[in-house]
Order: sequence, then structure tokens, then C-alpha cells
Amino acid sequence: MHPFGPEATSAPHPIYARLREEAPAHEIPLAENFTAWLITRYDDARRALNDPRLSKNMAGNPIRSGGGWPDELRAAMDSHMLSNDPPEHTRLRRLVSSVFTARRIADLRPDVQRISDELLDGLAGRDEVDLIGEYAFPLPLQVICELLGVPMDDRDSFREWSNTIIAGALVQGDPLAAATAMNAYVRSLVERKRAEPDNALLSALVTAADEGDRLTENELTSLVFLLLIAGHETTVNLIGNGVFVLLNHPEQLARLRADRKLVSPAIEEFLRYESPVKTATFRLATEPVEFDGVTVPAGAVVMVSLLSANHDPQAFADPERFDPARSDNQHLAFGHGIHYCLGAPLARLEGEIAFNGLLDRFPKLRAAQPLDELIWRPGALLRGLDRLPVMLN
Ligand code: HEM
Repeated sequence: MHPFGPEATSAPHPIYARLREEAPAHEIPLAENFTAWLITRYDDARRALNDPRLSKNMAGNPIRSGGGWPDELRAAMDSHMLSNDPPEHTRLRRLVSSVFTARRIADLRPDVQRISDELLDGLAGRDEVDLIGEYAFPLPLQVICELLGVPMDDRDSFREWSNTIIAGALVQGDPLAAATAMNAYVRSLVERKRAEPDNALLSALVTAADEGDRLTENELTSLVFLLLIAGHETTVNLIGNGVFVLLNHPEQLARLRADRKLVSPAIEEFLRYESPVKTATFRLATEPVEFDGVTVPAGAVVMVSLLSANHDPQAFADPERFDPARSDNQHLAFGHGIHYCLGAPLARLEGEIAFNGLLDRFPKLRAAQPLDELIWRPGALLRGLDRLPVMLN
């Protein structure tokens, strides 16, 4: 049973339960002549994500160089912290952390609130809407534009490119053309920020990079791509999957309405229960690595299933139960180790505002079609619904 096949896409949990039972690591086919090793148990997952022998630098590996994209474009999109090991990773992450601070995220709160309010205003009075297309998708995209300082007039193009790049072959459109256009746009935006600095993150990054000459042009553009890709669809899935889980557990939805203190722990439980990033990004074994008697050979590609680790009964009591009040919820939905999600505080802020907004505005929120008929998007890395039709009034 393939962990990324159609059956696992719609109902992954029984399949992961079996994989966890059977062995600590499974070699699975990903493409013709291409396999990867999947880690499914919680303790192994933590260990793997913290193991320097599992490199994030995939340069030259077929899984990375595939797609036939020009080298310059790859370099402009892929020279970021998540494609690097120390010491490059340390340098890139430190530079971004110096400007992507807790203070900056706290300062974004009124903007996130306004964006959420505007989107919800647009829904009020409507009966049926697709909650993904009309709320979960635009909210984080607008937040990233606000964070980076993408001017209002450019946001429609930004949205179209990112949609095409992220969704890839799933939607109509040409991802290569979109990436090329977006790369040209990001370069011109960097120039604009150099000429006319503002208070947003990209401007601060340009200044920090120029001051110490510590970021190349490719590293700057790659960072914009990384923030967009790492920060957008992941958060779409947090909101979409969270609403899905609540509609599936009406008694817990009622509980949350009655006690808003539960919203924050509920967000942690959404992250655990229907993890938006189901598998961490690829890693490359630079040496043989043993997991409980099974040795992954040097040169192998390793994938860590965060969704499976988050349902491991060795780590979570009654893992198949959705419990918004679960205590000591040490889920791995944001990863672990040096690549732990840099945007976790922002994702939590967006989640808090998004769920409170929905609970405030729509006391009758309910599913518009049977939840077991909804379509989950295929793919090895992300877990999210294609559409989530809901009745609002
Ligand atoms: C890394 C999940 C939102 C920026 C990661 C990783 C995970 C993750 C699992 C580690 C990947 C790996 O080790 O292979 C999530 C989830 C999110 C979310 C579930 C939403 C619910 C965001 C946001 C931003 C962001 C909003 C920024 C705007 C990043 C960055 C990294 C990262 C920059 C790379 C960190 C590094 O390599 O040191 N995220 N993320 N993420 N995330 Fe997030």
C-alpha cells in the first residue's frame, strides 16, 4: 500500500498505522527508477530531523534537478536556508531571524485582523461558499504580501504566479513561465526597496544584506520564494484542515464556541491531527543511517512522515482521537531541529485570528456536502483539501 497513493491521500491514517507497525523505515518507489526511504515513527522522526548525516543540500540529486528548469532560475529560487546545511544554513537563518522577529510578527497582528475581517465581510450574506478559495487561500497570501511589502497593485499578479507555481500541474497554467515572471518581478521589487526603503520585511532584508554584504542576489530572491512557498499553502491547509476537523466533530465545534480559550490548543491539535505538511522535505543520507535495526544506505533520499509521527501511539495517548484540550502536545507539524519552521509564530497568529473570526461571524457554519466526499489534493508533501464547500447562514 503506497503511502502517497490515492487511497492514502483520502484516508492516510490506517496506512501509516500499518507502516509504523511493520518497520521503522520503508523504501518506497517515488518515480520510475527512483525510491525514497520513509520514516514513520515519532522517535525516529525527531532523530532524523536532527541528524547532520541527513543533508538538506540536494544539489545534483535527480529529485532536485528534475523538471528541466534553467539553472539560473533554480539558483534564483533554491538558494535558501531550507536547501542548505550549516554553515550556510546558519548564516542565512541568522540573517532572516534578525529581521523576522517576534516584534515584527506582533506588529502584523492588526494587519492580519484587517485582512481576515475584509475577507469575512465579503462572505457575509452569502449562503454557500468554498471556504478554501474564499478564505483559507487568500488570507495567508495577503499576509505574506503585507509582511514582505508587496505593493497593493501587484498583488493580483503575485497571487496568480504563486498559485501556478505552488499548484504546478494541478491547475491550468505554466509553472516555468510563472516562476520566470515572478523571478523578474522579485528582482525589480528588490531594486525598488533599495531605492525607496519602507518598513516591511523585504526592505529590512535588503538593508541587512547590503550592510554586511552577506546575502547574494540569488539568496535574496530565493528567500522570497521560500517565504511564499513555505508560508502560503501550509497555512491554507492549517485553516482548511482545521475547519474540516471541526465540521467532522460538531461537539468539539460547539465546545470551542463556548470556550474560546480552547482555540490556541485546538490549533495545536489541528496541526497534529491533520498536519498541513504531511512529510518533511527531502533529505539525503551522506552516510549509512540506522533506524532501529534498519539501515538506510548512503546516497539514499529520506522522507520523514510528520503526519504519521503525529499519530504514533508511542508518543500520543489515543492518537486517533481529536482532542482540542490535549495537554503536552509535542507534535512535529512544524518540523524539528535546525530547520524547525521559522514562521511558526506567524502561522499560529493567522490561525488564531482565522478561527476566531469564523466562530464570531458564522454561528451556523456547517458542511455543504458530505465530508467524506471531499477531495484531498494529491502529492507527497502537503495535506490539504481542494475545496471545502460550507453553508454560512
Ligand atoms: C520550515 C511547517 C508556516 C516559513 C518548515 C518545516 C515545516 C514547516 C514542517 C520544516 C521542513 C523540513 O525540515 O523539511 C509549516 C506549517 C505552517 C508553516 C505546518 C503553517 C501552519 C510558515 C510560515 C512561514 C514559514 C507562515 C513564513 C512566512 C518557514 C521557513 C522554513 C520553514 C523559512 C525553513 C526553516 C529552515 O530551513 O531553517 N515549516 N510552516 N512557515 N517554514 Fe514553515
